[in-house]
Amino acid sequence: MPVITNIDDLKALYRRRTPKMFYDYCESGSWTEQTFRENSSDFDDIYLRQRVAVDMSNRSTATQMIGQDVAMPVALAPVGLTGMQHADGEIKAARAAEAFGVPFTLSTMSINSIEDVAAATTKPFWFQLYTMKDQGFVSSLIQRAKDANCSALVITLDLQVLGQRHKDIKNGLSAPPKPTLANMINLATKWRWGMGMMKASRREFGNIVGHVEGVSDAADLGAWTAEQFDPTLDWNKVAKIKEEWGGKVILKGIIDPEDAKMALEVGADAIVVSNHGGRQLDGALSSIRALPGIMDAVGDATEVHLDSGIRSGQDVLKAVAMGAKGTYIGRAFVYGLGAMGQEGVTRALDVIHREMDVSMALCGRRRIDEVDRDILLVPEGFEGRWQ
Ligand SMILES: Cc1cc2nc3c(=O)[nH]c(=O)nc-3n(C[C@H](O)[C@H](O)[C@H](O)COP(=O)(O)O)c2cc1C
Repeated sequence: MPVITNIDDLKALYRRRTPKMFYDYCESGSWTEQTFRENSSDFDDIYLRQRVAVDMSNRSTATQMIGQDVAMPVALAPVGLTGMQHADGEIKAARAAEAFGVPFTLSTMSINSIEDVAAATTKPFWFQLYTMKDQGFVSSLIQRAKDANCSALVITLDLQVLGQRHKDIKNGLSAPPKPTLANMINLATKWRWGMGMMKASRREFGNIVGHVEGVSDAADLGAWTAEQFDPTLDWNKVAKIKEEWGGKVILKGIIDPEDAKMALEVGADAIVVSNHGGRQLDGALSSIRALPGIMDAVGDATEVHLDSGIRSGQDVLKAVAMGAKGTYIGRAFVYGLGAMGQEGVTRALDVIHREMDVSMALCGRRRIDEVDRDILLVPEGFEGRWQ
């Protein structure tokens, strides 16, 4: 067993153990992948200020996100097809998050269903909603999330139409994989994944199959989902969904200050500065570069969270210092899951926690509420001056 010291170690192991189709699905951005790359590389442009001879005892990374206690300001992002990265992946990731004390967000496009995850956990998780043309189905998802006692609804706003990822087309991505020659050859080298999958409780989209009329198997499903995302979604519809839900609402996928202001108007409990991990609008600003403009636009009027590009505790610390009340990791936890199942997700959270804790200390801070812009060296013009 290789020694795991950082997120990249988990990624290397994940790559060895997971079918190419699912590795590629995770490890790609749309079109040229510029935004995907810059989401991470822009963090490197920000430096941390080392401070010395400061009492660094009794530290804590604990804080709150939307009023809920969290062991650190990091949640697991909603990731579709998580149960294809590893057998019962959503259940395993949710259990790891619960044990660690951070929120787990279940995607609409998950393999394990809302009910599966509720039955396998003891604390409320968050549910991410894609708005679909079929209003009845959207209402039934909302009701199922209420019945499962989900403590927040995360409405994703940046996927009314799908950004193209070349590899998914070339690989013929599907859940479960189709028995083509290329797939069979690749799967033959992934025996650990295959053995797990044989015992998995589900291999298809658990929130959809059996819950939508006319969708009974994977063949119907591909066609159904491709044409289901609602291109007519607007702020009125967002407000209506918020009302129907009646609980805490997090609006995900905001990268522009004007949209952040609109989110305030509909009364979001939090917004997530996110470009979907560089999977939608290629050429959009990285999340960390967009964050200062959004902080200026919304101030303290709502909680601002951030995802896209986080691969270390230093990245989390930088986002928090720039004003984010919380962050999410997507790929970083998938690497852990694909590498080692539930244990791997725990390792990913552990790595990020340690990195954040020690870096916070070396910046001379002991608690998250002491972390502010003062610990950063941000280059002039980082936020950009655009015409
Ligand atoms: C493989 C994959 C699947 C995703 N599926 C969803 C999804 O179903 N719903 C959603 O709102 N976001 C989805 N996202 C976006 C994540 O929630 C999150 O915004 C993104 O992963 C953050 O970037 P990071 O992976 O660099 O941390 C997905 C991301 C990845 C990598």
